[in-house]
Formats: sequence, C-alpha cells, structure tokens
Amino acid sequence: MIIAVDGTAASGKGTLAKRLADHFHLAHLDTGGLYRAVALRVLRLPFPADEALTHAASEASQLTHDDLNHADLRLETTSAMASRVASIPAVRQALLAYQQDFAANPPNHASGAVLDGRDIGTIILPNADIKFYCDAEIEIRAQRRHKELISRGETATYADILAGIAARDNRDMNRPVAPLKPAEDAIRINTGKYAIDQMVEQAMTYIVSPE
Ligand code: DC
Repeated sequence: MIIAVDGTAASGKGTLAKRLADHFHLAHLDTGGLYRAVALRVLRLPFPADEALTHAASEASQLTHDDLNHADLRLETTSAMASRVASIPAVRQALLAYQQDFAANPPNHASGAVLDGRDIGTIILPNADIKFYCDAEIEIRAQRRHKELISRGETATYADILAGIAARDNRDMNRPVAPLKPAEDAIRINTGKYAIDQMVEQAMTYIVSPE
C-alpha cells in the first residue's frame, strides 16, 4: 500500500503520515526533511546565500544519513531556506529517485510506504493507492507551530511564525516546478477542524472503506 500525504506548511500532514504508517505498519518518509537537509548544507557553505544556492543541487546529491537526522532540521531558519532550495528544479531532480525508490522498496521489508510532502500525489507517486491533501486556516497552523516551537524552547513570536508560513506557502504554491497543489484524486482534509486523533480516524475511514 502506497499513501501520499501532501499539504501546506504546518498543516499536520507529517503527523497524519506518521500515524497512518504506524497503524498500517508501513515505512514513513518525511520528504520535507530531504529539502531541510539540503538547506542546512547550503546554510553551512562559506558563501553569501545567493551564491550558496547555486551549489544546492550538488549538495542534494551528497546527502548522508547524518544530514537527515541533524538536530537543526526543524529550526525556522532551516524552514525558510528549505522552501528556497525546493524551488530549484535541479534540487528536486536530485531527490526524485530516492523518494521513488523508498516507495518501491520500503526499508525493513515493510509492505508499503507513506510519504508526506508537497508533490507526492502529483509528481513523485502519481499512482499512489490513496492520496490526502491537508490544509487548515493559516492562523490555526501558525498558532499550532508557535506553540510547538515555544514548547521546544525556541524563541519565536506568533507574528513571525505567521509571516514565515505565509511566505513559504506562497513560494511552494507558485514555483514553476512541482508547485504545491492537491492531486485531482486527493481526499482533502481540513486539519484545523480536528484534534489529531479525529484527523487520523477520519483519514482511516477512507482507507478501510474507500467509497
Ligand atoms: O514539510 P516541510 O515544512 O518540512 O517542508 C520544508 C520545505 O520543503 C517546504 O517549504 C517545501 C519543500 N518541500 C517540497 O518542495 N516538496 C516536498 N515533497 C516536501 C517539501
């Protein structure tokens, strides 16, 4: 079983993907983590940002296990740069095969995979068995992300988080290559209306009885 979960920034798509993977014993790949790992490598290059970005595709082709588990992956500065590297076609191309291979040959002999991101249902896995598209009002997403960051001890204002999410959504939706949009056959979930358990339960009803 292959499940694609796409959606806007901080929409809860990662949480949904992880919960579905745990429930159905599927492998899970957070594809945003790949772009975040490229972003961290770019941020560490000893060049100004614009010049560093010209090396992003080469950095994308050299990702290691350590890059994918780096402690700084979820920092806001990483999020902002991830959205920038993700708009570079050669970066997306460099990460394509890894994502498709993960779904075709899930690790640990899992019987399938759940991938979450922005273009999973549209570009990476257009033949996925089931596709979800998560979204919620931007204020709700910003409130949730703000709470999460504060609970992790990061200093961030609600206004900055809101502005950051708006900028990322705008860039992710309007880039020429693989823009964020629901696949035609995606099931839309308004994650703002639900607590996590309810969101997972709702998604699960489509998997158990797809009609
Ligand atoms: O889901 P996330 O916030 O971790 O994603 C970080 C950035 O990576 C996001 O701004 C857009 C990009 N991304 C993408 O373009 N395609 C994906 N499949 C996943 C993420």
